[in-house]
Amino acid sequence: MTDLAELNRVATAMVAPGRGVLAADESAPTIMKRFEAIGVENTEDNRRDYRELLFRSKGMANVSGVILFDETIRQNAKDGTPLVKIIEAAGSFPGIKVDKGAKPLPFSPGEVVTEGLDGLRERLAEYRALGARFCKWRAVIEIGDGIPSSNCIRANAHALARYAALCQDQDLVPIVEPEVLMDGAHDIDRCYEVTEYALKTLYQELYLARVKLEATVLKPNMVVAGKRCEEQASVEEVAEKTLRVLKECVPAAVPGVAFLSGGQSDLDATARLNAMNKIGGVPWKLTFSYSRALQAAPQKAWAGKADNAAAAQAAFAHRAAMNGLASIGKWSSELEKQAA
Ligand code: 13P
Repeated sequence: MTDLAELNRVATAMVAPGRGVLAADESAPTIMKRFEAIGVENTEDNRRDYRELLFRSKGMANVSGVILFDETIRQNAKDGTPLVKIIEAAGSFPGIKVDKGAKPLPFSPGEVVTEGLDGLRERLAEYRALGARFCKWRAVIEIGDGIPSSNCIRANAHALARYAALCQDQDLVPIVEPEVLMDGAHDIDRCYEVTEYALKTLYQELYLARVKLEATVLKPNMVVAGKRCEEQASVEEVAEKTLRVLKECVPAAVPGVAFLSGGQSDLDATARLNAMNKIGGVPWKLTFSYSRALQAAPQKAWAGKADNAAAAQAAFAHRAAMNGLASIGKWSSELEKQAA
């Protein structure tokens, strides 16, 4: 029997003030790309050493949960301690990415649907036994000429809802992530429109699948202009439009919203989250679930050298602390400079 009160406790703790989620669930091809950029060989030991360094950093004080990849949830630290235990010892929940990636959506050129529902119940039971307390499933929605289609929005929302219901059935909190990509030349209002469509459809599907919203966390994109759009919005405009779309679409029973960074710069991701929390007046907590915006700095500082581990840990702790402050609206660019 699903223990809803316990799932609600986990979901609430994931978005506790001053804390947020570290997305360290880069798939094999993605971590390869990140390592290539810093000149590190993509070996199992290097992946382990890098992630161990993060999980042992004091930055974990601001990390309520860590999303892991299948390999990592099974890995031991250099001294033999399971990485999951190190995360727990830091007072953080281990989580796991369970989708199998975005695949071409038939008859919808340029669009994808996330796969991974077959056999998911059994995989969830195994991950729960390995220590996972929450999961992630990412849907990818691209904006372009004539897309997204309703086929893409609906197929992805339906899969997210089936995933979320299975998670709760297996005593895991689902992070539901419908990511509207920043790629493209569209303006901020087009992003608003597509985000609204995706979120409205998602909550309809979650309702139909009988998902208990108080035991979920939403991981959305912020409402921003496409990377190639000439007119980029101010921090305030991003904050206002993101809050507006969330208020239009996200029921108050949801404990928290943990944004993805999606290719924003570290500072933009922090400043925009902070601006939203300064405005406030919303029923859910607003925090981070960043991968790139938390890890770009430590990856650069580390560069695959054991001697740089302390510097990488400090860089990670700094970004985690800054985002922790942003999650309560207490960050400022002056603080950023003082602490750097
Ligand atoms: P980014 O913060 O790099 O967008 O990654 C977050 C994430 O987990 C995407 O699924």
